[in-house]
Amino acid sequence: MCGITGFTGKESALPFLLQGLERLEYRGYDSAGITLVDHEKMTTYKAKGKLADLKKIIDPEACPQCAGIGHTRWATHGVPSQLNAHPHSNADSTISLVHNGIIENYQKIKKDLLARGYVFRSETDSEVVVHLLDSWYRRLNGDMEEALRHTVRELEGSFALCIVTTYIPDKVFVAKKESPMVIGRTADSSFCGSDATALIAYTKEVLVLEDGQIAVLSADGIKVTDFDGNPAEQAWISIPYDIEAAQKGGYDSYMMKEIHEQPRAVRETLRGRLSPEGKILMPELDQLPVRWNELKRIYFIACGTAYHACIYAKTLLQKAVHVTCIAEPASEFRYEEPVLDRDTLCIFVSQSGETADTLAAVKLAKAEGAHTFAVTNVLGSSLARAADATVYTCAGPEIAVASTKAYTTQLVLLACIDIRLSELLGGRMPDKERIITDLNNLPAVLDRTLDMEPMMERLAVLLQDQRDAYFIGRQLDYPTALEGALKLKEISYIHADAYYAGELKHGPIALIEKDTVVMALATQAEIAAKTFSNIQETIARGARVIIITGPDIPVSGFENVLRLPEIAPQLIDIPAAVLLQQFAYFAAVNKGCDIDQPRNLAKSVTVE
Ligand code: AGP
Repeated sequence: MCGITGFTGKESALPFLLQGLERLEYRGYDSAGITLVDHEKMTTYKAKGKLADLKKIIDPEACPQCAGIGHTRWATHGVPSQLNAHPHSNADSTISLVHNGIIENYQKIKKDLLARGYVFRSETDSEVVVHLLDSWYRRLNGDMEEALRHTVRELEGSFALCIVTTYIPDKVFVAKKESPMVIGRTADSSFCGSDATALIAYTKEVLVLEDGQIAVLSADGIKVTDFDGNPAEQAWISIPYDIEAAQKGGYDSYMMKEIHEQPRAVRETLRGRLSPEGKILMPELDQLPVRWNELKRIYFIACGTAYHACIYAKTLLQKAVHVTCIAEPASEFRYEEPVLDRDTLCIFVSQSGETADTLAAVKLAKAEGAHTFAVTNVLGSSLARAADATVYTCAGPEIAVASTKAYTTQLVLLACIDIRLSELLGGRMPDKERIITDLNNLPAVLDRTLDMEPMMERLAVLLQDQRDAYFIGRQLDYPTALEGALKLKEISYIHADAYYAGELKHGPIALIEKDTVVMALATQAEIAAKTFSNIQETIARGARVIIITGPDIPVSGFENVLRLPEIAPQLIDIPAAVLLQQFAYFAAVNKGCDIDQPRNLAKSVTVE
């Protein structure tokens, strides 16, 4: 969602601010702005649309050079417009601020400020913060840090704030609660961003600000305190990837680059997870203080693509253990009155580790005494810090909004977690030894799957002139069908639905007509024949069917059959997902869509 950059130092702030915002573009946004400040004046530029539109109106010569802040906005309160774009300033343009998150009590604060004569220019919740800060600054006779402390203590909701002021033009003030903020520095500058990719061209050593902290950045250092002004410890960490990983590297889009990175991402994710004796190593799980023989239920909780990974994990695990396994979308979890106690384990899955619904769910699980375990791709993310223990998918930075390598690495890590859970719970994972052997083979299988790309490009043409597509599958193929449909709709805007293959005839088959595209997954030998019957039912109604199946499953009489390389049936949906990513990609390319930044979507959904 929104992106933030901030800079102060001996050099011009503008290059850092703009390159940082460019790197944060993948988060999704609809307007952008910057404020630059020096001892005399503050200059703000804002534009609706893309960063290119903002760059057109910036006059680098006219800009003061001390410090600055930047923002890309994903509209929540108020339409995307120049007026609602950040930064927001106080009446006499002495303080300017950018905000990520949502101020839940903004209406009450706004009412108070209006009564005191403050004038509002935008429809945003964020603007209240700059006027509130202005009012505290005046009341406290010019103590900006103290004014900021008073301000943040009044705010309800989530916020990452970055502020500059002509009163102290060589400092940038930062505050954080439930919205990410990362800080970095070089010998003569300090800077920040809403995630580490904004900083990576300047440093690999970063400080992840904690909830309830304020940082004051200056050219020669960084001061961190809590909201009461007590000094806080600074735990610096090293970003586990470099600048090349955050660039397109010769591909037309980040999505295609990330699709092709999957063999390596899977290899990295498996590093240290498989012992030479063929065992799964998951010490983070072993060390949880769970009474395994008393455990009653395991929830897998996430949003979107990560939720599909959860359905895969619960389907696989339920075949191996007697404990109840449930997959829940994080946005529903809190309202289901889930049974949460010390005999409940909640596993949260999130690429970014910053998804608001997932974070709210982990908070609830902890408050009710359940054990919490996180699977995320981002070191130091809010989820990683909230859960009792965390394991990382080592996919590297995922920039495209459409998740690809994060999904397949989640499946890999969840397969490992399921195997270890089945052991801890005294269950029996069918084909365990073969799964472990084939986890080792998976990167090579993915390489061979990627070679099937020309076929997916050819088959994507079937979607030309189609408004709808249907994805069907049973058991482990069902989450793959869901994920294939999600990929297609989010980047090509073709309406796509996924169903259990056996459910089709209970209603959705009414939608099948001549040339409707049906993507059928039939990779699970024991139920493939049943899926083939369901496929015949759609062909009888004129559907064009594409079948993705295993290497040895008998299939005859169908037009488009794609056979995946040999691998354990419990893992075959991982290469199957890769084919569906390519299918969606080419469908979107054929329609001329923006692959990496689909309309209305944000990479990291930090509002509930
Ligand atoms: C999928 O392509 C989307 N990017 C989206 O569904 C995403 O998986 C979801 O918003 C959850 O994000 P997270 O993994 O960062 O929590």
